[in-house]
Amino acid sequence: MKLAIIGTGYVGLITGSCFAEFGYETVCIDKNQERVNELKNSKCPFYEPGVEDLLDKHLNKTKLLSFSSSLSESIKDADIIFITVGTPSKRFEGEADLTYVWNVAEEISENIHKYCVVVTKSTVPVGTTKKVKKIIAKKISEKNFDVVSNPEFLREGSAIDDFMRPDRVVIGCENKKSDKIMKELYRPLYLIETPIISTTIESSEIIKYASNSFLATKISFINQVADLCEEVGANVQDVAKGMGIDRRIGNKYLHAGPGYGGSCFPKDVKAFIKTAENNNLDLSILSAVDQFNEERVNSIVNKIISKSNLKKGDKVTLLGLSFKPNTDDVRDSTSLKIAKLLIDKGIIIKSYDPEAMENAKLENSELVLCKDAYKACEATSVIVIGTEWNEFRALNFFKIKNNRENLYIFDLRNIYNPEELKDLGYKYFGTGK
Ligand code: NAD
Ligand code: UGA
Repeated sequence: MKLAIIGTGYVGLITGSCFAEFGYETVCIDKNQERVNELKNSKCPFYEPGVEDLLDKHLNKTKLLSFSSSLSESIKDADIIFITVGTPSKRFEGEADLTYVWNVAEEISENIHKYCVVVTKSTVPVGTTKKVKKIIAKKISEKNFDVVSNPEFLREGSAIDDFMRPDRVVIGCENKKSDKIMKELYRPLYLIETPIISTTIESSEIIKYASNSFLATKISFINQVADLCEEVGANVQDVAKGMGIDRRIGNKYLHAGPGYGGSCFPKDVKAFIKTAENNNLDLSILSAVDQFNEERVNSIVNKIISKSNLKKGDKVTLLGLSFKPNTDDVRDSTSLKIAKLLIDKGIIIKSYDPEAMENAKLENSELVLCKDAYKACEATSVIVIGTEWNEFRALNFFKIKNNRENLYIFDLRNIYNPEELKDLGYKYFGTGK
């Protein structure tokens, strides 16, 4: 089976590399020539653990993987074509911007020469895959292609493992022929007994948004509970543990913090709300989830300023700039939002992140970037832990304190034991405790 993947972002590149690892001949296409050139040299354009090893193996040893900027050349022999381009939020509207998907569908329609399956792997609102079909059908007979929805559930930072060992694979299709082809494609996962869910295209598209939205709901829920815990003297970590042990609730996505960020939860929650609105329905639970998450960084910044009496010209250390650990992605990063709000109030932000400093600087040139966490903590009296990178979990706070008084720690991710830091003389503030 020959595969073509259009778009080499997080989803496209991981999908392509992992299918090559399964043994399929795979070509990945991107219109960004610079990106394609880097990839041809086994250079991953973003930080994602393990990708460069896979690139090197399948570009240079097995030769199952290739990269191209020519869609017309690359898809002509493909049995399955995956659309993995971005579906960002439309500015101010929340609706998914499907421009990239429509453009790719047009291009595919002009370049299919034999039967193939066209798969939407990008996260797309219900109805999109069938619209892709309509676009292609303007030029190609419906007998010569099928469309399938096969959403992706990988997380950045653990993308390869998530792809190779998924909790489930969802296949939304219209007929047995395309369902059989997709099941054949995922046969390597039968060995590890991955559940494969076959359903309609519409249900498959909804499964993706409902899953992301549900996880985002858990996060906003626990963050609201965290605020209550702070008021009444409870500890949200104990509360989450006590709740999560109930298997009907589950212990995942109950870590309180600065709110969810990243390239997907914020935009997907908004797009799902918009889909409901377009169908005259009100996903009011999600509107509350979204609104609370949007406002959360403001309340965190207000808390930091009021508890530590910050004034214009003061310096604050911010540890972590990516939206989560093990990625250099700063899209919708809560750390960057916190930095901007503080900078707008005249506060100087000294920051360090193991991987995301280059991307962060492009977003906010006023950040003062330091070579390590210790340098970032020099000459500041307030330390904010924004992202829970492993290397921030065992910092030497005795050394950082260096006999100074009135040092504040805002441990937004609850990675430290409050008592230990208080014993060292810090004023410690966690989230929800
Ligand atoms: P991305 O923005 O990182 O990458 C998209 C790529 O598509 C870019 O390299 C761009 O140059 C390329 N592209 C755009 N138009 C093209 C065209 N006409 N021809 C060839 N290439 C083109 O996007 P991403 O983060 O990989 O997300 C892609 C989709 O997958 C989105 O719908 C997203 O919601 C979904 N998704 C993302 C993740 C994630 O962890 N990032 C996980 C699951 C699902
Ligand atoms: C998320 C989903 O987990 C993936 O299944 C999905 O494929 C992907 O979105 C997508 O559609 O793009 P990702 O955004 O990479 O993956 O990262 P997560 O680990 O889910 O974290 C998202 C945000 O939630 C981060 O800001 C993280 O810090 C926050 N989070 C997560 C919490 O605040 N608390 C938690 O308990 C878990």
